[in-house]
This record gives sequence, C-alpha cells and structure tokens, in this order.
Amino acid sequence: MVKITPFDVEQWMDEYENTPGVLNVAETCCSSISIDELAQFDERRQVHDNGEGRQRGTGTSPLDLSTILTYGPIRGSEELRSHIAHMYQNGAQRSANAITEEQSGAQGSPDPVPKEQVLITQGAISANYLVFYTLVGPGDHVICVFPTYQQLYAVPESLGAEVSLWELKGADGWIPDVGKLEALIKDNTKMIVINNPNNPTGATIPGDILASIVKVARKNDIILFSDEVYRPLFHDAAAKSAPPSVATMGYEKAVVTSSLSKAWALAGIRVGWITSPSCDLIEQLAAARDYITISVSQLDDQVARYALHPSVRPGLLSRNLGLAARNLVSLSQFVERHGDKVSWVKPTAGTTAFIWFGGGGGEAVDDVQFCRDVLAKTKVMLVPGSKCFGHGKTFKGYVRVGYVCETAVLEEALKRLDGYIQEHQAV
Ligand SMILES: Cc1ncc(COP(=O)(O)O)c(C=O)c1O
Repeated sequence: MVKITPFDVEQWMDEYENTPGVLNVAETCCSSISIDELAQFDERRQVHDNGEGRQRGTGTSPLDLSTILTYGPIRGSEELRSHIAHMYQNGAQRSANAITEEQSGAQGSPDPVPKEQVLITQGAISANYLVFYTLVGPGDHVICVFPTYQQLYAVPESLGAEVSLWELKGADGWIPDVGKLEALIKDNTKMIVINNPNNPTGATIPGDILASIVKVARKNDIILFSDEVYRPLFHDAAAKSAPPSVATMGYEKAVVTSSLSKAWALAGIRVGWITSPSCDLIEQLAAARDYITISVSQLDDQVARYALHPSVRPGLLSRNLGLAARNLVSLSQFVERHGDKVSWVKPTAGTTAFIWFGGGGGEAVDDVQFCRDVLAKTKVMLVPGSKCFGHGKTFKGYVRVGYVCETAVLEEALKRLDGYIQEHQAV
C-alpha cells in the first residue's frame, strides 16, 4: 500500500469552500466560466459587415450533442492536441524572447512541440501523477522547488524516491538560486521539478534563470519536469516578456504539464496535458497512461478544443489577463494600506499571492488560527501558508490569496479584511 501524507491544501479547500456565504479568495482558478460564457469569446460569432449590411457570423457550438459516446481518441482528439501544440509554437505558450542556443546550451533552435507529443489527461493533477508514476521510484532522487503545490514533492516521496526540497526565499523574490540546485544534485538524481509560474508565490522564473536550470539538468543528464499550469497568465506589465516554456528550450529530457483549469477558467472540464520534446519519454508516459486513463471524456475534449481554438483562445485569455491585472491593483492597495502588518513579494504571474501577516510587535501571526478566525468572523476564505505549503514547519504567518476571482468578490473580501484588521489591532 502506498503511504502518502494528506494533501493539506486540497483538504483545506474541501473543508471550507462550501461554507454558506463564503467569499472565496482561496481559489487558484481564474474566475470559472460556463459553456455559454465561453461561446461569447468566439470571434466567429461576432457581428460583421459583409458589404451588404451587418450580419452575425454563424460560429460553432462548443458541444456536438450528436457525438456517439465511445471512448473517443485514446490520447485525446487530434484537434485538441494540435491546438495545444500550436500554443507552444506560437504566441501564448512561447516566449517573446526565446532563449538563445548559447544560453540554454541547446544544439538547435528551440524545439516546437509536435501534436503527436501531447498526451491529454484529466487535469494537470493526473498529468503530474502520471509523470511521477512513470518516471521515478525507489533508488531515485528528486529535487523539487519549495514552496509549491504539495503534489509535486509528496507523490515522488510516496513512490519511494528520496526528495530534496530546493527552498525558495522571499528575500530572493522567490526566484530559485541555481547554485543551491547544483549543491543538491546527487549521483542518483533522476528529476528536477519546477513550477513556473509558482503556486503559491505568483513568482515567475525568468528566462535566463530557466536557461541555467536547463544547463544544469543537461550537464547532469537529469529529467527537468516543469508544472506550467499557470502559464500563460503573465500579467505584469513591467516585465518585458514572458519566459519560454521548458518544452521549447531545446532540452530533450524536458517534461511539461498544464491544463485548462487556471489560465483558461475551465477547471470543470478536467482537461490537462503532458508534453515533451522526447518521443521516448512520451511513449513511456503513454504506456503507463493506458493503465489509469484510457481516454478523457469526449465531452470535455470538445469543450477544451473549442476553448483553445484560435478564434476563441485570444478573447478568453485576454479576459483572464485583464481580470488578473485589475484585481492585482486592488490587492496591492490593500497591502499598501496595511504596510505595518502585511508584506509580500508582488506576484508577476498566475493567480495567487503569498502574503505575510504580522502582529503588532512584528511577530508572524499564527496563520492557521488567523485564517479560521477570519473565516468565522467575516466569511472570507484564505489559505494558511504554514499548514498548506510548509507542513507547519515554515512559512508561519504566510497566507495564500487567490485574487483572480470576480472583482466584486475580491473587493468585498478586502473590505471585510480591512475591518477585521482594524478591529484586531494586532491582526
Ligand atoms: C501547481 C499546480 N499544479 C496542478 C494543479 C492541478 O490542476 P488541475 O485542475 O489542472 O488538475 C494545481 C491546482 O491547484 C496547481 O496549483
């Protein structure tokens, strides 16, 4: 029997997110949408002028209700895999400043991702599980950034691998120190795990640091696994460009996961994916996938390929980037208002901020007690950092805020938090 530690953040969400009247600023998805709302982003539906007067385009429907519900294409539909591959080749998933060969140590230009090398999964959570289940086991050593989504270090550990945590520091802007990575490498290091953009910090690993990580992985012949589920939600206007996906940096042993849940606001369809420049790794993953997936729901696949269609995707992404950027302004104002008790590294991407709350004397609050009390008194739901990201050993006083909810929800939650802080002088 596999021995696995409880998944603290998932259990916390499960326990509190259905509290009646809750103002949920704990969620990590961009405010989720319905199929009807999704269809509004379809450019093919827009009114256009054909010279003989304004006409409404016919558009397409997200769901074909006449589809016979067989298992469907086993690895995911060609169309969906091709839209995903296209994102790595152009635009959304690809950096504007592709890392140079020299920096990444690659032998050719960054590899585009062929659709044959995309496997569809039930969300990124299944994609991540499949990566570990297939590629690591007893005798292997895995290095994982920390803090991050607990799955990324708890699962390899449960499979018998030895895991070293590559600790990120707020003082470094939560950007990984590649020197520390090199010091953690052992003879049996099989995999380096990164999460870019990061949950819970909202920090982005810049392109040059990514290139150094690739270089270290290449030099030591280690698989580089990047959970990119918050990509391409880069909403920091000050940043010159988004970093590339690790899938496009010319490193054969890269594995990347992502999904429709976060940046695309469609967690309810449970569609994610894995890709890699290595056919061999993809075939290994596909062989293991046969035992746990067969295929993903054909209805989910239909909605996913509609959402990522070039006529829908730009509108959907722009809605989510706009929401994130707007809400981050409100959250920044909140942090400024309480500068004597609250501090952070302002997020540059994704949907979450990792905020430190201190009491009157500069002491960190007990974040678990704080989150419970805030919920009881104001109905605002937050996530305690030490419990959900530090196993109670570190990140005391840190709270994760998921700020890409509807703006009205965030505004009301921040108003109530203002009141709570005022009432409890020492938070
Ligand atoms: C870093 C990270 N990876 C994966 C997941 C799982 O996402 P999905 O809904 O696609 O399964 C989450 C969800 O919070 C996450 O934060």
